[in-house]
Amino acid sequence: EMPLLEQCYNLMDFEAVARRVMKKGAWGYYSSAADDEITMRENHSAFHRIWFRPKILVDVEKVDFSTTMLGTNVDIPFYVTATALGKLGHVEGEVVLTRAAHKHNVVQMIPTLASCSFDEIVDAAAPGQVQWLQLYVNKDRAITQRIVEHAEKRGCKGLFITVDAPQLGRREKDMRSKFTDPGSNVQAGQATDNSQGAARAISSFIDPALSWADIPWFRSITKMPIVLKGVQRVEDVLKAVEMGVQGVVLSNHGGRQLDFARSGIEILAETMPVLRELGLQDKIEVYIDGGVRRATDIIKALCLGAKGVGIGRPFLYAMSAYGLDGVDRAIQLLKDEMEMNMRLIGATRVDELSPGLLDTRSLFNH
Ligand code: FNR
Repeated sequence: EMPLLEQCYNLMDFEAVARRVMKKGAWGYYSSAADDEITMRENHSAFHRIWFRPKILVDVEKVDFSTTMLGTNVDIPFYVTATALGKLGHVEGEVVLTRAAHKHNVVQMIPTLASCSFDEIVDAAAPGQVQWLQLYVNKDRAITQRIVEHAEKRGCKGLFITVDAPQLGRREKDMRSKFTDPGSNVQAGQATDNSQGAARAISSFIDPALSWADIPWFRSITKMPIVLKGVQRVEDVLKAVEMGVQGVVLSNHGGRQLDFARSGIEILAETMPVLRELGLQDKIEVYIDGGVRRATDIIKALCLGAKGVGIGRPFLYAMSAYGLDGVDRAIQLLKDEMEMNMRLIGATRVDELSPGLLDTRSLFNH
């Protein structure tokens, strides 16, 4: 028997339900990660190595955890990150996430490889609702230019260029299920080889030659803020600042690319002290994603200096299991957790979240 939605009390509960109710191929695509999936597990467990040093006797009657991301006001410091092939989980696909994002005033990042067309996802947004575009860069730059210009024209407020996927990682769960019918109208890729799972089949257009030298070109074709998604070392964050991009997402693609890549939260803890030391902390917005499942994870990232975090799989699972109501509840649970945990650590606004509220001694030494 399928548990009632009201019986889901946290984001992990949705995963357990989705595992039972989803088709094998769809579950394989959403849940898989690269190789031995060590990085995927590390993404989540790295948060378990950070402890709180809460303040007492702070008036926390009123708590406000709204913030801004790339200039957009949001209710809570996370965004719905880009995940391909939404129709594997729900007949309506990504527009379900669009509606939930609107209801809770959070930003949705639209994937290049969405099941719905880009225009369908933009059309599903309410007036004024902010969306960003996740970009896989095509070998044919004319196609990429058209996608970027169209996104800007349709009102997208951020361009997230995925930089951790010159080739799609080996996701063996996905390969084993030999999933060959994405059931979608994926526009940007030409399916050429279905024998290696859904991911490989739709990604052959991605340009492995993409390099830093391309960044000025992106700057020249769009006024949208540019964010590099998938940065994994402080040296590259500094390079990103130098290149004048507006943001980075410290991310390993949910563990789906390079296994043994470090977690975003660990890279953040390495990066922010260097940025502060060089006086560059206000020159770039730093985001992380991967393994964020609790409001305490969000709070830890903000204490370390992240502007916000991306969350991927939990919303896919909530959508697959319960549709819009599921995603709505998942976000509401995060908001409830956020209010409670801000109070318990003695912070009333996100600008009060600072490294001093954390004990990170075991983050690196474990
Ligand atoms: C992704 N992710 C991803 N990233 C990207 O830049 N383009 C894409 O098309 C996709 N597609 C995709 C599909 C699925 C099923 C998953 C689970 C993930 C990576 C995603 O944006 C993000 O980095 C991770 O999902 C974050 O980790 P969590 O929250 O899923 O643990």
